[in-house]
Amino acid sequence: MNLIDRPRRLRSTAVMREMVAETEVSARHLITPHFVVDGTGVHEEIGAMPGVYHTSADTIVEEVGRDLELGLKSHLLFGIPDHKDATGTSAVDDNSVVNRSLRALKDKFGDDIITITDVCLCAYTDHGHCGFVKDGRILNDPSVEQLAKMAVSHAKAGADIVSPSDMMDGRVAGMREALDENDLENTVILSYSAKYASAYYGPFRDACDSAPQGDRKSYQMDSRNGREAILETILDLQEGADMVMVKPALAYLDIIKRVRDEVLCPLVCYNVSGEYSMVKNAAAAGLVDEAAMVRENLLAFRRAGCDMIITYHGHEAIEKGWI
Ligand code: PBG
Ligand code: ZN
Repeated sequence: MNLIDRPRRLRSTAVMREMVAETEVSARHLITPHFVVDGTGVHEEIGAMPGVYHTSADTIVEEVGRDLELGLKSHLLFGIPDHKDATGTSAVDDNSVVNRSLRALKDKFGDDIITITDVCLCAYTDHGHCGFVKDGRILNDPSVEQLAKMAVSHAKAGADIVSPSDMMDGRVAGMREALDENDLENTVILSYSAKYASAYYGPFRDACDSAPQGDRKSYQMDSRNGREAILETILDLQEGADMVMVKPALAYLDIIKRVRDEVLCPLVCYNVSGEYSMVKNAAAAGLVDEAAMVRENLLAFRRAGCDMIITYHGHEAIEKGWI
């Protein structure tokens, strides 16, 4: 291979750089999270996440409508119910806040949007864990059963994609089986396959009021481990996941790259709440150029090998021409 000794030639003008760019990010790569709460007419900014709102099942239609005008077609819903209990009964209620939102969105936008639901119990349980708790331990198989029911209820209400974020073993298989039994064989599973126990979820847990008693280290992954991400990903694919995910994203770009090299399916990363809030706070303090930083981060995920990015920056980045 002959290497040019003057790489600057190809950086000489903006148009030249544009022509030779290896990577790009645009609206079709982005998935937008929404936080839906009980009640009507709610549209309240989340303190820890400037520019992100709590909405109710009626106002989410307007929020998604505005996103859609910007070209953001994929939407991830998190439910925050008023009622929380030990087993997260609100999570499997056909009239849950997520299911009401799904019906409203599908009524209005049909197949012009993709609806994705986060399938996890932590926002629905009074102890804040992602599964059932007994004697201080997180039970695996009974939790999987409840999560599978939750996925079925979301799919029936109009979720195109269900997305388990709990990290119980065998949840993808449990969910696939339950979906198929209910004639929902076309519902896609996007698994949070390599999800790490992370300090970067802090603002999200405020938003969802889902901080656990204790921590999540007995089910979410240990940040010292890289190979294990491949194991988790392969297991989820064997169990029937259609797409896989690495979460968080910025501190785990090596994991994104390693998973990319192993799998053929679409790969998603989650640019999580703490990553978002860090950028927002640094920008508000006048320390960084927000436009350039958001663009640089989103491009990093794409360069590392992600197809899609779940991010809170989407609508602002597009509206203001950052990407
Ligand atoms: C629920 C869930 C969490 C996030 C997505 N789904 C929180 C957690 O596991 O504690 C984090 C999202 C974010 O921080 O933006 N299991
Ligand atoms: Zn959870």
